[in-house]
Amino acid sequence: MIKKNKITILQPDDWHVHFREGDLLKAVTPFSSRINGRCIAMPNTEIPITSSEHALKYKEEIIKNANNSSFEVLIPCYLTENLDLNEFKKSLINNFFVGAKLYPNNATTNSSYGVSELEKIFPALEILQNEKKILLIHGEKVRDGVDIFDREKIFIDEDLKKIREEFKELKIVLEHVSTSYGVDFVKTNKNIGGTITPHHMMLTKKDVFLKNNDIDPHHFCMPVVKNETDLLALRNAACIDNDKFFLGTDSAPHIIEHKLPNDKIRPGIFSAVCSIELYAHIFDEENSIETLEKFSSINGPNFYNMPVNSSKIHLEKKEWIVPDMTLYDSVKVKNFFGNKKINWKIVNLNV
Ligand code: DOR
Ligand code: ZN
Repeated sequence: MIKKNKITILQPDDWHVHFREGDLLKAVTPFSSRINGRCIAMPNTEIPITSSEHALKYKEEIIKNANNSSFEVLIPCYLTENLDLNEFKKSLINNFFVGAKLYPNNATTNSSYGVSELEKIFPALEILQNEKKILLIHGEKVRDGVDIFDREKIFIDEDLKKIREEFKELKIVLEHVSTSYGVDFVKTNKNIGGTITPHHMMLTKKDVFLKNNDIDPHHFCMPVVKNETDLLALRNAACIDNDKFFLGTDSAPHIIEHKLPNDKIRPGIFSAVCSIELYAHIFDEENSIETLEKFSSINGPNFYNMPVNSSKIHLEKKEWIVPDMTLYDSVKVKNFFGNKKINWKIVNLNV
């Protein structure tokens, strides 16, 4: 096989990004807007985004800090058990929201407003289904007795199957799929797609839970990375059998002070600095550089019923070292893969 050293692909989109707020937003936004045509900005801000006014204000804050004038921001409504359903429906119809995001209560960062009793959001899901909007899901069951490594499987078995059964036409994205069980569920069910992060294809639990019982805070995310077999299933789903999977980095920055080793380490991996390059690196390792474009730039818009981007980006095979940190005023964030070598680099784009 002839190995390619250069590729040109349609401009990608990132269907799962955390931009945060304030200085942190200013620090990270240029990285996602440098390459992507569109990003879905997650609504788990300090006060969750549940209204059209809040969504609009947040969108404006991100756009103001973007370094690409055609960059588009899409926001899903944060589902709570006491949403104003009239306002929710209106906001969907008027395209303030691309869909809605289900965070199980206390599953991850800023999810304390999330859902404890699934049935309580069924009226909102009914509206989503009728309006043909997307349900994005953080698929983890958090309950006493459920091991952190089993949360995705138990969520699928107890909750996702129920949603699938009740709302057959509702289009669902299982976000940041982290297990081979999740991959199989997406592949074998209708109206469901999955996003896959670079870190779930590069790390296993040994990279997080270290031999000396320490946790590497910079590899700690939700859902936690799993076993080698899961990693291989995810690589296969992204690179080879990839009709139902698309790009979603879950790039989730936290200031370095929130990543100090203690029992309150915030979950999240910040990969926006090198996201498309990481994917190219992985696809090349899997001898699948030819299928990167489908995953990064075609499957996502097809699923969301949007046109693919019209511009293109160029990547070349060239070693570079990811900077260790992102700095902005007093904000410091550790970059995923910081100080490590990647084999692919985007051409002619600088932040
Ligand atoms: O690791 C994660 N961090 N997973 C999520 O789902 C949320 C994210 C965050 O917002 O920090
Ligand atoms: Zn996320």
